[in-house]
Amino acid sequence: MTTYPGFTPVNKGDLPGTEVGVGVLGYRFMGRAHSNAYHRQPMFFWPPVARPKLIAMCGRTRDAVAEMALRLGYEGYYTELDAMLADPRISLFDNCASANAHAEPTLAAIAAGKHVICEKPLAPNAADAKRMWLAAEAAGVKHATGFNYRFVPAVRFVRDLIDQGVIGRIYSFRGCYLQEGGDIPTRPFSWRYDLSQGGYGALGDIGVHIIDLARFLVGEIASLTAMTQTFCTERPIPDRPGEMGRVTTDDVFVSTVLFENGAIGTIEASKVATGRKNQNTFEINGSKASVVFDLERLNELQVYLREGTPDTLQGFAQVSITERDHPFYQFWWPHGHIIGWEHSFVGEINHLLTAIVRDEPIGPYGATFEDGYRALAVAEAVMQSAQTGRRIEMVY
Ligand SMILES: NC(=O)c1ccc[n+]([C@@H]2O[C@H](COP(=O)([O-])OP(=O)(O)OC[C@H]3O[C@@H](n4cnc5c(N)ncnc54)[C@H](O)[C@@H]3O)[C@@H](O)[C@H]2O)c1
Repeated sequence: MTTYPGFTPVNKGDLPGTEVGVGVLGYRFMGRAHSNAYHRQPMFFWPPVARPKLIAMCGRTRDAVAEMALRLGYEGYYTELDAMLADPRISLFDNCASANAHAEPTLAAIAAGKHVICEKPLAPNAADAKRMWLAAEAAGVKHATGFNYRFVPAVRFVRDLIDQGVIGRIYSFRGCYLQEGGDIPTRPFSWRYDLSQGGYGALGDIGVHIIDLARFLVGEIASLTAMTQTFCTERPIPDRPGEMGRVTTDDVFVSTVLFENGAIGTIEASKVATGRKNQNTFEINGSKASVVFDLERLNELQVYLREGTPDTLQGFAQVSITERDHPFYQFWWPHGHIIGWEHSFVGEINHLLTAIVRDEPIGPYGATFEDGYRALAVAEAVMQSAQTGRRIEMVY
């Protein structure tokens, strides 16, 4: 073995923390975002409570999963889910596959005794999500839904302000998640555009995120009315020239909601908001203060405090949520040295791993499968109201 004068190697086995073996299904966008979050753990959370060990990725296409397992730092890969779930080194199953592969693989992981995190939407429908929630509870495993925006420091700070009474009584919530690009008519038909195959539009894709933030910050939704619209109603079916598939998912929805605590609000999402890349915003107006958040400026909050500010200085202040005593910021950089979108996953994964090692609850700050289910129940009520024109009373 080559030696280098003065160099002492570290022993990687000396890393503190309890090892948690991880197996991930799906290796594209979210597979990468979650893998990044696992790698960042001991780097930022020190000494780490948990030490994730990236055992395996699982995917259907051997060459592709092999390449991603290598690239993302896994020990190996599987092409069969059952085989991965039989691997005793894996105690956490992370479902980063597309939504139509959420329910059964996650239920199989629960049956195999694994802790589970599953990306949103938790399932193709609320009934399946409820099955997942009840199965995870019955098995006594930790369960988390991928509502990562709860772990943006400014979002958690708003929750803390609400809990501390700084906002006062909440009067209204205005939440809006906008993306562009859903109106490209040549994009081929697939299951994603068919509700009956577990497809989802603006509602299931980004709407559930803003529904979750509404519930996380303001509370449970009691009733709602809604409208949805689909602009591109049919798409070409691949390999069947001239045949078109009927789109049954929404491009955009707008909903008015009444919360159980009496607050009122609007929730909307669009995949056809031309010019909007990933704008996830909310405004909360309370009796003592108002706050405004915009994901595209996630290190900031606009804050208006009704009292304690001289009349001549009244107005919204732009506050940098990067101080050491702001949520999660003790793990990051000196104040003003901002963080980004991917850091929300780092916080989410840390919360989950800590809960596993210390046997602590995921809620109320992390999203459980119950939260994943409730967000889908609200989403289904949005569709029901849009179809019937009626106000829907929520029954969970
Ligand atoms: N939390 C967030 O901010 C966020 C952002 C984007 C996507 N998502 C969610 O994450 C999930 C994955 O999204 P994505 O953009 O990474 O999707 P994607 O379509 O890019 O990748 C999906 C992955 O799932 C795999 N897959 C699909 N069906 C499978 C099956 N039956 N068996 C095994 N593997 C299967 C695919 O091979 C691929 O690796 C979706 O539910 C999506 O809504 C969450």
